[in-house]
Amino acid sequence: DDDDVVDHLIVGSGYGGAVLGHRLTAAGHQVLMLEMGQDWSTPGKDGKVFTKMTEPDERSMWFRDRTVMPLATFLGVPIDKVIPRGPGVLDRIDFASMSVYAGRGVGGGSLVNGAMAVAPPRSLVEERMPDVNPDAFYSTYLPRAQQTLGVRSHDAAFVAESPYYQFSRVGRASAEKAGFPVVEVPSLYDPDHLQAEAEGRAPASATAQEVIFGNNHGKRDLTKSYLRLARASGRLTIRTLVRATTLARRPQGGWTVTIESVGPDGTMRPAGTVAAKRVYLAGGSVGTTELLLRSQAHGTLADLPDAVGQGWGPNGNIMVGRANHVTSPTGMKQSTIPVHGIDAWTGAARADRVFAEIAPLPAGIETWVSLYLAITDNPRRGSFGWDPARDRLTLDWSPEHAAPSVAATERVLDAINRAAGTSYRVDLFGTGKAFSDGFTYHPLGGVLLGQATDAGGRLRGHEGVYVVDGSLLPGVVGVNPYLTITAVAEMIAEGAVRDASA
Ligand code: FDA
Repeated sequence: DDDDVVDHLIVGSGYGGAVLGHRLTAAGHQVLMLEMGQDWSTPGKDGKVFTKMTEPDERSMWFRDRTVMPLATFLGVPIDKVIPRGPGVLDRIDFASMSVYAGRGVGGGSLVNGAMAVAPPRSLVEERMPDVNPDAFYSTYLPRAQQTLGVRSHDAAFVAESPYYQFSRVGRASAEKAGFPVVEVPSLYDPDHLQAEAEGRAPASATAQEVIFGNNHGKRDLTKSYLRLARASGRLTIRTLVRATTLARRPQGGWTVTIESVGPDGTMRPAGTVAAKRVYLAGGSVGTTELLLRSQAHGTLADLPDAVGQGWGPNGNIMVGRANHVTSPTGMKQSTIPVHGIDAWTGAARADRVFAEIAPLPAGIETWVSLYLAITDNPRRGSFGWDPARDRLTLDWSPEHAAPSVAATERVLDAINRAAGTSYRVDLFGTGKAFSDGFTYHPLGGVLLGQATDAGGRLRGHEGVYVVDGSLLPGVVGVNPYLTITAVAEMIAEGAVRDASA
């Protein structure tokens, strides 16, 4: 046949894909990477690559006529705006009772995320990731990930004084008043750039309402770390606006991936196949699980492990807002990059197992709101399936699944409200709703490490197919997840490079 035949094919260019891209090319291998989103390196008509959150256009969201922001309303006024359709950088994948946000483009989630680079609690790794050796994880793979990503600490004096972090200091003070420890989290947003832009010495990004639709400056996304290294090797080819749809065993050996090209209006057109000796699935929790379950449903993959589709969780994500007293303004100026987390997981005497990011609400006006993205230890798991009639992925997840997360968040936030004499904001997620339990930034699971795969990420019964992304992780990791995903991918890359040289 006239297929392209490659040795190493990576599907997706987020954390997992970028790690494999770097480690395989560094070991001398040629690598082809497929990415359904764009290469975000060309400025638009306004001279900018990405848009502000407050001025969205066709670059902002993945084929939507209207933005779908996590905050639905403010004081009863809808926040979302009409936009032209295009292959924008932020996607929201809507299932029945859960919406999953994900980055689209070269760099995956690193393009849209808040840059918080937090190490998971050791107890979590020990209890929930039995196929990961905790000593090796903390002494080898985590430092390797931190170093290659370029993780740095924020400047403590800047955080303590800048008007852009008033919101975070107010959130910190109220948590500490209630007895919860607050930690300053490391980041991939350059602290020098942050300070310079706050002082007007550098182009503004975090201080100019840029984050979930991309940052034009300051953020060390994957194109500046792993993907830059892989590209510099001269051995990485990235094909953009190409979506992998199914995987099939190739009679001659290896694997065939069917692909579609993504048209400017969002129409997907068949674009042939790519054959590869080894395939590394890095489409993220939803993307990778979808590819496998579609392949099974379409009959191209038999003998998929029963564990594929199982063990999914939203990292216990709950968003919630509090109304501060008028005497505690959170500031008209707010940086989009969070710096503080309330550690009611390992730090508190009580067993709340909640880690709450103190999130900005960069509306450009004073709101007196303290906003939190809570990560909670919810034991309930969802599962993916396939709806043959509509030929699409389904997620079995309901508000009942989220109930333990809401309860845990409520325990911590009730304590803070009691100590501060304050109350919840009930105008942010639709009228009367204090706790937003229907979306996640942190999809995890679907192809669990050690269950659907072996301890090296090799899909069971499918030699040469590796899973290297957030779909491996056990539904909750206790903190914002990309650092854990990167470290686990480093662990898998070590074995994959060994396999490739054998
Ligand atoms: P990731 O989603 O990064 O990459 C998958 C890539 O594959 C994407 O580029 C996608 O387009 C592509 N793809 C998928 N299917 C495909 C297919 N079939 N064919 C071709 N390409 C395909 N985490 C954190 O630790 N700190 C933080 O501050 C934040 N903040 C944050 C904010 C927002 C708004 C979001 C949406 C997310 C975060 N996160 C975060 C989460 C973090 O970004 C996320 O956990 C990782 O990006 C997941 O990494 P993966 O490698 O699993 O997939």
